[in-house]
Amino acid sequence: MQKSTLKKAVFPVAGLGTRFLPATKASPKEMLPIVDKPLIQYAVEEAYSAGIRDMIFVTGRNKRAIEDHFDTAYELETELEKAEKHELLSLVRSVQPDDMTVSFVRQPRSLGLGHAVLCAEHLVGNEPFAVLLADDLMVGPQGGMSVMAQMAEQFQELQQSILAVQEVPAEQTRRYGIVAGEMVGEHLMKVSHMVEKPAPEAAPSRMAVAGRYILTPAVFELLRHQPQGAGGEIQLTDGIAGLMQHESVYAFQYQGKRYDCGSKEGFLEATVELALQHPEVGAYFRNYLDHLQIGWSGKERRAENLER
Ligand code: G1P
Repeated sequence: MQKSTLKKAVFPVAGLGTRFLPATKASPKEMLPIVDKPLIQYAVEEAYSAGIRDMIFVTGRNKRAIEDHFDTAYELETELEKAEKHELLSLVRSVQPDDMTVSFVRQPRSLGLGHAVLCAEHLVGNEPFAVLLADDLMVGPQGGMSVMAQMAEQFQELQQSILAVQEVPAEQTRRYGIVAGEMVGEHLMKVSHMVEKPAPEAAPSRMAVAGRYILTPAVFELLRHQPQGAGGEIQLTDGIAGLMQHESVYAFQYQGKRYDCGSKEGFLEATVELALQHPEVGAYFRNYLDHLQIGWSGKERRAENLER
């Protein structure tokens, strides 16, 4: 049988972003920048690095800025061209490479992540697709592949659904989809159980789904008939749990780091760590933090914190 390659990615971006109010009152949370790039662009670049070229956004009210971000900025580009600011011009144009297409579909009501993915069905069609939650900013290992590129490589072999997972402390299981199953490779598990946001005592393991999925199109049929689950929402997790009755589903322990930018703490961690690595401001920022007196007991402690 001919192997399928991954060509499409779905970005559910209809969420309200209440944890970042008032910043998200009129602007999408996905447009919040980490240093100088909006969260959604990190996710799109990650998909692109995995060879994906069709980007599908499931949007909602107040999300126009995302559409504009991935469109030609005619006035800005003309001005930059006139001023011969070539570097800035290519930076602006690099947001949407020529070989990338973008499509938008609205999720009319907030019925959950599973419902958001189902809204993209007619744009995805009958082929495997990736789902990337932009709240989770994923950074691959230094000099290595992005998390989605690692997953796409696994998919080339397996040709089945794959979920990115990481181990979390027991007290955090109620924030995630949790999977359990049998290890079939060093970083690969064949999933037999999957449950959305269980209490620690009910969790089948501590393996949590990060916001990266590769799914086969059979999931749409299951989502269509999916009743409300945790939080009264149509959960992607429940659709995937249904899919497991028909097809194999794998969990992949990716290499790299995840920042939970849906929380203020994770957002701040990503900002500090990515600023330290930023080619333009990294050296300045390291020096700045080094001299900042914020109640640490001594220089040693400070150095230890910065190195982590
Ligand atoms: C969603 C999924 C959950 C997953 C998480 C990863 O939850 O429903 O299964 O573990 O993303 O970030 P949310 O964070 O949208 O509540």
